[in-house]
Amino acid sequence: MDELTLRKTLSELPLGGLRYFEQTGSTNDDALAWAADGAPDLALVCAEQQTAGRGRGDRRWFTPPGAALAFSLVLRPSPGEGQSVPLFSGLGALAVCEALGMRGLHPEIKWPNDVLLNRRKVCGILAEAVWMGEKADCFVLGIGVNAKPEAVPPSDQLIFPATCVEAEMGKSVDRLTLLRDVLQSLLHWRGLMAKADFPAAWENHLAFRGEQVEIWTEAVPARTGTIEGLERDGSLRLRSLDGQIFTLQFGEVHLRPVL
Ligand code: BTN
Repeated sequence: MDELTLRKTLSELPLGGLRYFEQTGSTNDDALAWAADGAPDLALVCAEQQTAGRGRGDRRWFTPPGAALAFSLVLRPSPGEGQSVPLFSGLGALAVCEALGMRGLHPEIKWPNDVLLNRRKVCGILAEAVWMGEKADCFVLGIGVNAKPEAVPPSDQLIFPATCVEAEMGKSVDRLTLLRDVLQSLLHWRGLMAKADFPAAWENHLAFRGEQVEIWTEAVPARTGTIEGLERDGSLRLRSLDGQIFTLQFGEVHLRPVL
């Protein structure tokens, strides 16, 4: 990836700004720093390599050079857009699904926001909010996609099986047009976030729907249920073994299918 081609590929998009790094610690940290310094809505930070990429739950995110997409977008919510990290995470996941779908793939969202191909994780999303009192001043939506095999961490470092776009497509993928398509889809769905279409589209991509899963957090022991769908606010709706419906709010939740 080179900066000139990146700028050219994204030139039609209404970005608020673009910073490209051949190597950086974490694009989320860069975007948060830029946001604190007044970055406008849709400011984008993109890196070829991250040396301190961050995942959810303080995990590391592996981004070797030349093999992945690693970018973070500053989103300054307008009054109608709500204040919800889960909805913005879902927005990112849906956008990645659409861009992969355009390449003939069948991505699914492992709630809340991992994107899977063939039930293996291909993309992770880290959405972070910057609060001003009770109000979100901005969200930083960080997205990492394993494009090439080198981006997939060794299996002993994984808590869920992983894959990459090229392995699933059986051919090489152009990372820049993939990035452009993700951003384009994100802009489209952002305009629909307050409408029922958005959770419906997110739900349509939900992995393990109708299947039994085990779900647990650091604080709450594992619970088994069948995934029914999503609530309007992005919470996950499940049916427990005794037929009761329960919902799970977004958080540091782990989910795995019951085999
Ligand atoms: C996860 O699955 O735990 C979330 C991973 C998010 C990784 C992306 S890569 C771009 C951005 N910069 C970071 O440091 N993290 C996110």
